Order: sequence, then C-alpha cells, then structure tokens
Amino acid sequence: MSANTKKPVLFIGGSGVVGSRATRALRRLQPELPITIGGRDLLKAEALAQEIGGADTVKIDLEREDLGLPEESSFSAVVVLLKDPSLNSMKYAQAKGVPYLSFSDFVFDIGPEVALYIQKPTSAPILMLGHFLGGTAVLSTLYFAREFRTVHAIEIGAVFDEEDVGGPVAQGDMERLTTKGVPNPLILKDGKWLWASGADAERRFTDVDGTERQGRAYPLLDVVSLAAATDARSIRVDGAVKEAASRRRGEGPSHEVVIEISGELRDGTTGSIRHELVDGDVHSGLSARGVALAVERLLGLAGGPPVAPGLYHPEGLLDPAYVVERLKEFGTKITRRPATPSRKAI
Ligand SMILES: NC(=O)c1ccc[n+]([C@@H]2O[C@H](COP(=O)([O-])OP(=O)(O)OC[C@H]3O[C@@H](n4cnc5c(N)ncnc54)[C@H](OP(=O)(O)O)[C@@H]3O)[C@@H](O)[C@H]2O)c1
Repeated sequence: MSANTKKPVLFIGGSGVVGSRATRALRRLQPELPITIGGRDLLKAEALAQEIGGADTVKIDLEREDLGLPEESSFSAVVVLLKDPSLNSMKYAQAKGVPYLSFSDFVFDIGPEVALYIQKPTSAPILMLGHFLGGTAVLSTLYFAREFRTVHAIEIGAVFDEEDVGGPVAQGDMERLTTKGVPNPLILKDGKWLWASGADAERRFTDVDGTERQGRAYPLLDVVSLAAATDARSIRVDGAVKEAASRRRGEGPSHEVVIEISGELRDGTTGSIRHELVDGDVHSGLSARGVALAVERLLGLAGGPPVAPGLYHPEGLLDPAYVVERLKEFGTKITRRPATPSRKAI
C-alpha cells in the first residue's frame, strides 16, 4: 500500500443511507484501505466501523475550521456525504493538501466551491460529485454514447420508488428544491441553457415496465458535464416517482434509470438508442458505488496514479467503460434496446 493510502479516508456522513453503502462498497473494492467514519452520533458510526473492519470513528463539528479534530489528525482524502453549508470540510482538505469529494451540490450550488478552488488551485484535487447517482449516470451515458459519431440529444429519466426517500439529510436537500428561493432546473435545449419552467420542466417518458411516467427536470450537474463532454444540443435529466404498490411481492425499493441518446451512429444512420439500468437497492446504492469508485481513483488505487490538484467532474477522472463493468459486477442490470429511427428530440 502506498504512503497516501496508509492514512484513512475520512467519510463525513459515512454512517448515513449513502455513507454506509459507500463505505461497504469501498471495503469490497479495497479490503486493506483504512476508513474513518465521521458524524455526530458515534454509536451509529461505531456499529458500521465494526461491521466493515479496518475503520474507526470521529466526531465532526462542521462549525469549526479544524472540524473539531485533533491537530495531529491525518487523512488520505475527505469525502463529504452531506451539504456542508460552511465548506469548512473543503477548507480542511485544502489546508491538508488531500483530495476532497463533495456530493450534495445541485447545479446552482457550486459557486462557493469553485471560488475556493480558484483561490487555492494547487492545494488539492477537488471532485464535484453532486451528479445523479454519484456520477454513475453520467459515466454510463458517456459509455453508451461511444456508439455515436455525433450525439444530438441526451434524455435521462430516473424512476424512484415512492418509499426511496434517502435519509434525513437527503430529505432536507429535496425540501430545499421545493421551497422558494432556488432556481428552476437547468436543461440544455436546442444548444441554449435554460432554467426551465412550465412545460419545459416536464417530460413524459416510458419506464422499464413500459408504463408512461410524468417526469420533472432535476437541477443536477449531469447536464453541464454531458454538455461539456459531448456535442449534444439538448440534454436533460428528469425524475419520476413509482408507486410502492407496483413492486413485485417481497421486493424492496429498487431504482431504475432510462438513458436515451439520439444522434448519428457510427454506421452513418441517424437514430436513438435506449439503455436501462435497474438496481435492486435504493437509489443510494448506485450513488454509493459512484463514491467508492471515485475515492479509489482519487487515491490512485485504480485507473491511474493519484489525482493531481485540480477541479474535477467524474468524467474527467474515471473511464466510463471501467465504471460500467464495475456496476455490472455490483449487480446493476443494464439492458440495451435496439436502435430506433430518429425522432425529434426534447
Ligand atoms: N450525488 C448523489 O448521487 C447523491 C445521491 C443520494 C444522496 N445524495 C446526498 O447525499 C447526502 C446524504 O444522503 P443520505 O440519504 O445518506 O442522508 P442521511 O442518511 O441523513 O446521512 C447523513 C449523514 O450525515 C451525518 N451528518 C448529518 N449532519 C451532520 C453534521 N452536521 N455534521 C456531521 N455529520 C452529519 C449523519 O450522521 P450523524 O447523524 O451521526 O451526524 C449521517 O451519517 C444528502 O446531502 C443527499 O442529498 C447525493
């Protein structure tokens, strides 16, 4: 194990719905990597630390620039699985010169983090991973887009089980979206950015079972990442909710994502290809795997050397093909539907 990975990865919020899954996923990928679980309730954190092994716990105070940690504390990375309104966690990672992963920013939230990065651009690698499903949706989409010579439009539809609401912190974040004072969701429409309202913010799409769902645009970083990484002139991510009653008997809440890409295919024809991702865990399961894969990459434990200081999105760090393979290994079912002739997108 290299010097940078002898120190633990600090997961602030590591005992939550996503955090417990992310630490378990990382333990599966990296049996030896030390992990520190940070939060306020140490009993909860200690139970998880016992379960995953090679882990300890710390109490975190986000009000303090030192996070309430002893001076001599030392970590290989700081992963923050909640919205840290002070950004003390980012300042801490910059001061220590270790990778920082933020996970809870909507597309309109990132200004303060970008400014902190600009202030100290050489201090640490900063990964903004507020993307849908911890970046796994963006990376899967970029993998599927390899079938195209030119991408015209990307439409991502997520179907959440009505009981899959995440933990208290995630519920608070969703409430923020429904209160006044936050911008409308961002979409790319016909080559122009639009903070969508009214009919522009709505989209009907067909779920994996063939049921038509009413979706609503989500203000996620995926749209800006996909716009930067492809030629697409129209990009959006919409979420819809599925009744728990429609589950098969005995099944818990699963998550499904429908990714439709249209454009010019490698054979010169124009068409649309649909992929479906279905995962048997709540949406936090896929999100957590995105975190685990990103941590491995930041530390240089997979996919290349340790990441240098800079400002990153997941597609700048992780190979889409590698991520799709790992998701399949973790149990996500991925289905490709045959290409259909082009229709007018979005
Ligand atoms: N990017 C994505 O793909 C994605 C996907 C899903 C969720 N999310 C985001 O991920 C975050 C976590 O969601 P979740 O469902 O895991 O929520 P959760 O179950 O409520 O977990 C939150 C965790 O943060 C800790 N925590 C809360 N407030 C804290 C504070 N002030 N100081 C230190 N620790 C604190 C909690 O532990 P204690 O109670 O012990 O403090 C808990 O471990 C949310 O912000 C959500 O929006 C992002």
